[in-house]
Order: sequence, then C-alpha cells, then structure tokens
Amino acid sequence: MTIKIFDVETGKDINKKIEELKVDFKEEELEKEHYMLKEILEQPETIKKAIEQDEKKLIETVMEVLRAKNVIFTACGTARYAAIVGRYLFSKIAKKFSDVIMAHEFQYFTESVDKDTLVIAISQSGETADVLEGLKKAKERGAKIVAITNSENSSLDRISDKTFFLNCGPEIAVASTKAFTSQLVVLYLLAFAMINKSQEEKIKLKEIGDKVEETISQNNELIKKFAEKLKDKKDFYFIARGIDFAIASEGALKLKELSYAHAEGMPAGELKHGTLSLIEEGTPIVTICPKDYTYEETLNNIQEAKSRGGFIIGVSDEGNEIFDSLLKIPKVEEIFYPLLTVIPLQLFAYHLAVAKGNNPDKPRNLAKSVTVK
Ligand code: G6P
Repeated sequence: MTIKIFDVETGKDINKKIEELKVDFKEEELEKEHYMLKEILEQPETIKKAIEQDEKKLIETVMEVLRAKNVIFTACGTARYAAIVGRYLFSKIAKKFSDVIMAHEFQYFTESVDKDTLVIAISQSGETADVLEGLKKAKERGAKIVAITNSENSSLDRISDKTFFLNCGPEIAVASTKAFTSQLVVLYLLAFAMINKSQEEKIKLKEIGDKVEETISQNNELIKKFAEKLKDKKDFYFIARGIDFAIASEGALKLKELSYAHAEGMPAGELKHGTLSLIEEGTPIVTICPKDYTYEETLNNIQEAKSRGGFIIGVSDEGNEIFDSLLKIPKVEEIFYPLLTVIPLQLFAYHLAVAKGNNPDKPRNLAKSVTVK
C-alpha cells in the first residue's frame, strides 16, 4: 500500500516518516458487547497496568514540577476532570499549587507562560486540536511540556518533553472510562513521587484495582434496574465537595454524552447559589459523598436539596437515611475514593443510555477524538 501525504492548499508533497501504530485488539472479542461496558469492566486490570511507570522518569518529572513557578494542567472533556483530580492531589499530597485551564481557553493565558512554567497536558487520543494548539504557544514561550496520553507517537507525544502512557489498550467507545482511571493513576504517582512515596503507594494502588472489581460487581445489576426507573427524567444534578467535585462533573458529563438528558455537576457548596431554584419534587440529585473530609458538609448541602423534594442518590461507603438510594462503594483510604466513586457513575450513564435505546458507544453528534478547533 502506498500512502502519500500532501498539503491540501498547495498540492505539494510533504515528506513525513510513516509510523506504524501498535494496536492490539481482537475484533471477535469486540463484537460481543458494547465497547463501553467492556472498557468499564477492564478497569481493575487497566488500573494495574497504568501503575507500571518508569520510576526514574517519575522522579525527573516531579523535580521539574517542584521547581516550576507555575504548574498548569490543560485538557478537554473527561481528561479535564482527571486534571482537576490531579490538581487536588498535587495540593493535598505534595502541597503544590497548580491550575487547570480548559485547552481551548489556554491560548488566552499564554502571555503569562514562560520558561518557569510546566504544562501537564492530558489527552487520551493525544490528537485533540485544542490541546495541541495551546501547547504550541506555550512551547514557543519556553514552557516545559509533560504529556499523559494513551497514544504512542501521537502529536501530543511528539510535542512533549516527557510522556507518560496509560497502557490501557485502545479505548473505542466515544465516552472515556478506562483511560480516565488510568490518567488518575498517573496523577497519583506523580503526586506521591513529589513526597518520595511512589514506590510504597504503588502497592496500595494495586489493591484499589481489586476494590474497583468489587465496586462493579456490587453495583452493576442494581444500577441496571435503577436506570430503567429513572430513564424518563429530564434533569440530573451531580454534587460533591473537594476532590470528588471532579468526579461529580465527570458523572454529569458521562450522563449527558450518552443519555441526552440534561446533567450538571457542581461543587455541593455552589448549589445554594442558583441551582437550588431548579430542584422540584423528584429531581434526581446524585451525591458523591464518601466518608471523608467532605462528608458532614456535603450532607448539609444534600439536606437543602432534599427539603425541596430532590430524590437523593448517594454514592458512598456509608449509608445515611437522607439517601433515597445508595450506590455503595468499599471503604478505602480517603485519598483514593475518586478511583471508586467514578465507577457507579460510569455504569449509571451506560445503563441509562441502553434503557433509553441509545447506542452508548457512538453518541449522536460526538466524536472520539476532536481534531478540529
Ligand atoms: C471528545 C470526546 C470526549 C473526550 C474529549 C477529550 O470530546 O468525546 O470523550 O473526553 O474529546 O479527548 P482526549 O482524546 O483529548 O482525551
């Protein structure tokens, strides 16, 4: 087969080296079920694969992170919610402040980027045009680029000074699931490497992989029934505090991508600043509320929604009479909750889409990789 690359405007040939991608998937296996469900179920394993990062590269990278005056995460969609978890992890574990800028807005901030800036770009495909555009500008201004991606030889890999690969295999469903949890694993490792603890925490992360398995088996059938009950609801709100706010936002994104219902994720404290006026009898409020440092305060916010008639779905390791329904997760060390709380939300979005007769693998109007600006 001959492949010719040329400039569409001038018609002139472009000399490019052709790289062959190592993609390892078995067609027959993929025809059985929806890719999305298959990818959700793979997570106990893909989490373990994401842990296999080179220790030397981790240390070198975090030295740069610690040295940098400004640390900026940039990403879109689900990858941006991984970045928000990363921001909390960097602060909580390593006391390192960072910011998250949506990739398409990053170009408007590049004036303040310089050689003391470290940009961490997260992108499953490594080809999202908005991510690449901002990075090019940041690079011109001397910033260092660290990539977290699933795609070797992608444009993101090539533009970056250092790349961490997710090792989770190809993700086919448009809505990202296993790539998200793998991105989180890399972010945990970076945060722990900053305090010299990545080796010992790798062991704990492996155990979290097993807890993900438990979370899936405890919730899958229950959520399937539950989705059937809620499939006609038009609006969903997802709330949480602290690090789980990113998971609430990711849960809402998954749901709207696949079920075409309106869904919003927000910090629970923000509810009273507007959204409370939309809560009516039976409005579903999904609350990510593990028994961590946010538990008590989140319960207060739930009370505000409940007293307006909200139907409260709790995602927690601890039951509470305020929940109308509970999606139970195992108890783990509190820093690791995001790797578990996201699982019921992925299953919820998947089963709701199926209950509504939508194809969860190919939601309307959306693409797996957005290569145009
Ligand atoms: C698209 C997809 C999302 C994805 C986002 C970022 O919008 O539909 O599922 O999260 O792009 O993709 P990336 O490949 O950069 O992670």
